[in-house]
Amino acid sequence: MKLRIALMLVLAMGFAGAAEAAGEIVIKFSHVVAPDTPKGQAAERFRQLAEKLTKGRVKVEVYPNSQLYKDREEIEALQSGAVQMLAPSLAKFGPMGAREFELFDLPYLFPDQEVLHRVMDGDVGKRLFAKLDAKGVTGLAYWDNGFKQMSSNRPMHRVADFSGLKMRIQSSKVLSAQMKALGANPQVMAFSEVYTALQQGVVDGTENPVSNFYTQKMNEVQKHMTMSNHGYLGYAVIVNKKFWEGLPSDVRSELTEAMKEATSFERDIAQKDNDDALARVIAARTTTVYRLTPEERAEWQRVLLPLQKEFAPVIGADLISSVNAVAAQYEKEKTAKPAKKI
Ligand code: LMR
Repeated sequence: MKLRIALMLVLAMGFAGAAEAAGEIVIKFSHVVAPDTPKGQAAERFRQLAEKLTKGRVKVEVYPNSQLYKDREEIEALQSGAVQMLAPSLAKFGPMGAREFELFDLPYLFPDQEVLHRVMDGDVGKRLFAKLDAKGVTGLAYWDNGFKQMSSNRPMHRVADFSGLKMRIQSSKVLSAQMKALGANPQVMAFSEVYTALQQGVVDGTENPVSNFYTQKMNEVQKHMTMSNHGYLGYAVIVNKKFWEGLPSDVRSELTEAMKEATSFERDIAQKDNDDALARVIAARTTTVYRLTPEERAEWQRVLLPLQKEFAPVIGADLISSVNAVAAQYEKEKTAKPAKKI
């Protein structure tokens, strides 16, 4: 009897090993953008690294362009375990009950990418990820896209130019308030629906980094783009917590390493991708690209900066001050004179 049980155990272990060797651990990684965006390329890089470092024990299936799920559904799919990994933009965590992520949507809060990275990789980034725990989600990394630009079929130089424009936004209360402050009418809409909505005039304009604008061919349906850099769009790479914690620990550390490498790759290519996309938009000549004058920028800032105070009670005044402290520290380092050699 004992021998039979032992035999069954050995067989079961053999099957488990064989199944794993055939790549039984599957990570479905769903996202909403094109494969040739910073996020799309990094998801693919993660797939290659994960499969290599786990020696095929893990198979990663990347589903770009909302092939599986749109914005809101993908988060539900992650929580239910229908997919294991996502990288939603930081503006899409509000409906999940994590409004603090809208910190990243606040206009003119982040002066540059360096400050963003210090914030994401420091205490603020960790505190935000800790908020996801109770929602059955684990945060693995922060990825860049870049600063957002405004587009529509009307030139947008002065704040008054936004009056009455229907602007598509992501599901963020900060972004809604931002558009209202400019005098526009915000409309929440899934990313996959934006091109058609612009084409059919359901909305007049939108905001996005140029890499998203160009890869969705929005230049075909938007006559004007203002290089406003008024806010940021980045991502949190997240996994289903139960799935992640249930992985064999060696696999989990190999995947952690793969994510680390994919993250550094992603951050390296994001700015260049946006620069290349801008060159392509200009070359396509379907969209007039405008750069704000310092006076115009100052006017936008006068209207949009008060959002930081308005949203402090929701996002957390301490999180906003932490960002300001990181920015001040970085500024100090940049301006610090090198110590004189004696
Ligand atoms: C958007 O919906 O505009 C973006 O979040 C899309 C993305 O994932 O970059």
